[in-house]
Amino acid sequence: MFDKMLSSDESLFLDTVALDYDYIPKLIPHREKEQKYIANCMKPLFSKRNGKNLLIHGLSGVGKTVACKHILQELEEQTDSIAPIFVNCWQKNTTYKIFLELCDQLNYRFTQNKKSSELFNIVKDILNKKSVVFVFDEIDKVEDLDFLYSILEEIYRKTIIMISNHKDWLFNLDSRLKSRLIAETLEFNPYDEAETKDILQQRMRYAFVSGVWDKEAFNSIAKKTAELEDIRSGLYLMKEAGNLAEDEASKKIQIKHVQNAIKKLNDFSIKKSDDLDSDAHALLDLIKSNSGLKIGELFDIYQKQGGQASYKTFQRKIAKLEQGKFISVEKTAGGSEGNTTIVRYSQIKKLDEF
Ligand SMILES: Nc1ncnc2c1ncn2[C@@H]1O[C@H](COP(=O)(O)OP(=O)(O)OP(=O)(O)O)[C@@H](O)[C@H]1O
Ligand SMILES: [Mg+2]
Repeated sequence: MFDKMLSSDESLFLDTVALDYDYIPKLIPHREKEQKYIANCMKPLFSKRNGKNLLIHGLSGVGKTVACKHILQELEEQTDSIAPIFVNCWQKNTTYKIFLELCDQLNYRFTQNKKSSELFNIVKDILNKKSVVFVFDEIDKVEDLDFLYSILEEIYRKTIIMISNHKDWLFNLDSRLKSRLIAETLEFNPYDEAETKDILQQRMRYAFVSGVWDKEAFNSIAKKTAELEDIRSGLYLMKEAGNLAEDEASKKIQIKHVQNAIKKLNDFSIKKSDDLDSDAHALLDLIKSNSGLKIGELFDIYQKQGGQASYKTFQRKIAKLEQGKFISVEKTAGGSEGNTTIVRYSQIKKLDEF
């Protein structure tokens, strides 16, 4: 009986870091083709010519960020003549914040009391001595695009990679910006079940003591993850199932632990939408059945269905739903119709808050 029990100083986990969403594994299986494509865009930089720009798009949790970070790491190991820059535009969402971040990454510290243009001059002086690869992740979350103009105009040898969930972001750009940017597009498609299994298995080997996973239990995680088309949910389920097994001092992670972990994942989505008041719920339903419309069009439907709120209040409600990640909102600057906001229903796929 006690042979089957985990003693208090034993753990099923080897290294939980490998289950973190921002962990970068040594290999990125099933993205070889995409990585090659990205590398090709940078190739001209090695012979001191200007590189190509690229918009990478695809659903959440399909490896866009990790594939790019991995390439930047390799680049850094290979050469000193190309500076790798990675910016998350959700966190750094204005030109000023982005320039500050560039200074920080280039180890320039005297940024206090400096205006955007002064910061950029410093960045420019440093970067124009080399070539640069910029990755702007979550690019659709930026509030202004002045930084892109500056970079396009004044940094000479560069590849700009932009990552977004939406391909349309590029089409809706201001035509002046678009004609300078001339970006190719690359889609990351969701993994199939076999690929998902491979990827999760790799993480399992890093994260768990060998042999603790019951085969059936692991397979059911791979299946559920492939269904959700988001590797993050698989990482979450592995960690949670491992914890549940440990709580029971079980030496094996079994199907029942996985089933309970899946229940927790579902509960999380339901609980989250339970937090909304009935008004917000109604609005969420409206967005669900009209996903992808402009905010103005959505407001028309809302009013036709008897919605009472003013446009301002309506906008505020939308912003609140976005904060809770129930929906995603894409702001498009410029374009033929001026600034617009496109609202999309999103399944609870961003699992960062667990
Ligand atoms: N091919 C892969 N090999 C190893 N790990 C992967 C692979 N694809 C995705 N992952 C892992 O899945 C998780 C989600 O991937 P990533 O953060 O790159 O998604 P994303 O496409 O950028 O999603 P989002 O649009 O939500 O930002 C990360 O922990 C990442 O390490
Ligand atoms: Mg990402």
